Amino acid sequence: MDRSKYRYRVEGTGPAVVLVHGFAEDSSVWENQVAFLKNKFRLLIVDLPSEDNGEDWSLPTIASRIRESLDQEGITTCSMLGHSMGGYITLAFADQYPGLLNGFGLIHSSAYADNEEKIASRRKGIEFIREHGAGPFLDTMIPKLFSPLTREKKPALVQKALEGKDNFSAAALVRYYEAMIERPDRRNLLEKTKVPVLFVLGKHDTAVSPDDGLEQAHLPEVSYIHMLEDSGHMGMVEEPGLSNTALINFLQAL
Ligand code: MLT
Repeated sequence: MDRSKYRYRVEGTGPAVVLVHGFAEDSSVWENQVAFLKNKFRLLIVDLPSEDNGEDWSLPTIASRIRESLDQEGITTCSMLGHSMGGYITLAFADQYPGLLNGFGLIHSSAYADNEEKIASRRKGIEFIREHGAGPFLDTMIPKLFSPLTREKKPALVQKALEGKDNFSAAALVRYYEAMIERPDRRNLLEKTKVPVLFVLGKHDTAVSPDDGLEQAHLPEVSYIHMLEDSGHMGMVEEPGLSNTALINFLQAL
């Protein structure tokens, strides 16, 4: 497998739903959702590059790659669910191609831009990655994505997330951090969107605060909000049953 390439696969039949994973992840993060949703939906499941390929990785450019995939599959209307950085990409997509979406979901994600504190912490992260490499960075970062309860009761989930860390090059992680630093505030898009927006939040999320989602959920005309009480940033794997219910209720209402 060429990890420097953008890839996607299609599973299931029904209305089209695009799944976009987050930073330092691949599409396996959706495996519970794919198994659950593929009986009712045609899923276009994106895998973003995990090695630098010298191409433009700005979030709007990634959104345009997803658009090309939809064209290749003959999909003219879809909904899109984005986890964290995948949510930032979903917002860029909604901005560029509003006519293609009938709804979208921000899963542990937010329309805010990075504030100064977040930019400073990303820049420190970039320095650390350049000095020590991707592995040591992800060893520290990944466990913090899970709630204390998940870390205690389901340590295998954290181990599984850590197993993927060797797939990422330092250069790729730096590229994504830079792309996230550059992204604009997109609350105006939430205000002007005509389609329903789903917010799935983790009560113990320290990567993207659940308060951010709660502060934004009044902006769209129609919002669905789900707070996962026992999850951190990884509700799709921490509370898969409740996540699946939140997603299917939203998708079936579209
Ligand atoms: C992600 O999970 O995609 C990242 O934590 C998002 C972020 O750093 O803002």
